[in-house]
Amino acid sequence: MSKAQLRGDYSRAAPDYSVEQDWGRYSAEEHALYRRLFERQARLVPKYACPEWIAAIAGLDSSREIPKFHEISQKLKSRTGWEIVAVPGLIPDDAFFTHLANRRFPVTVWLRKPEEFDYIVEPDVFHDFFGHVPLLFDRVYADHLHEYGKGGLKAMRLDAVNMLARLYWYTIEFGLVKTKSGIRAYGAGLLTKTGWGEPLTGLLFAAVICAAVGYITSFMIVRLQHLALIMITTLAFLLVRRYGL
Ligand SMILES: [Fe+2]
Repeated sequence: MSKAQLRGDYSRAAPDYSVEQDWGRYSAEEHALYRRLFERQARLVPKYACPEWIAAIAGLDSSREIPKFHEISQKLKSRTGWEIVAVPGLIPDDAFFTHLANRRFPVTVWLRKPEEFDYIVEPDVFHDFFGHVPLLFDRVYADHLHEYGKGGLKAMRLDAVNMLARLYWYTIEFGLVKTKSGIRAYGAGLLTKTGWGEPLTGLLFAAVICAAVGYITSFMIVRLQHLALIMITTLAFLLVRRYGL
């Protein structure tokens, strides 16, 4: 996606693509939309999210309004040394990896429109915050992402960014983890998606198939509709195997 196609305002971004969050510019309607997104997702996700995410989101007190990044950063810094950096939207690989390598997580400043309540193409502040930030309070996840950022910079020198990007997509965005309570989601794309009616076994198989297809075709960003199609195909496959249809 070229910068011209991105919807964020990049005109005031610093060379590292950071911007001021300018929290006072969010309207009451935007805070209300964020609140509705949070409430809807908070009802859906606890059954499927990993325990570390559930514990972290509970301590953030961030359900009523779009969070102030500097306040969350203060808490994060004391726990895992991370902080949030506000960005206009998607940023180039080198800037992204550099932020991660310095324990700074880029979070988009703008919020989706009401008509995008169920699905948005580019990550917005709700996706970035609700999906990614809570797990930055977990030491293992935080350290992994730090190493990923350093690995990304190395991959750029070796012309191997695509491989790292795939790893990110199928772990940080759509990753599942085996826990004592069963298979749970830790990927932000799953934690912020709707339609949690699918069995997690289907999600697991879908994740495996996505990884395989992504590796073969090199496609990077699948629309959730594509993911849904893959999941339906997977479920059909499972039904055929189970019932011999
Ligand atoms: Fe994301």
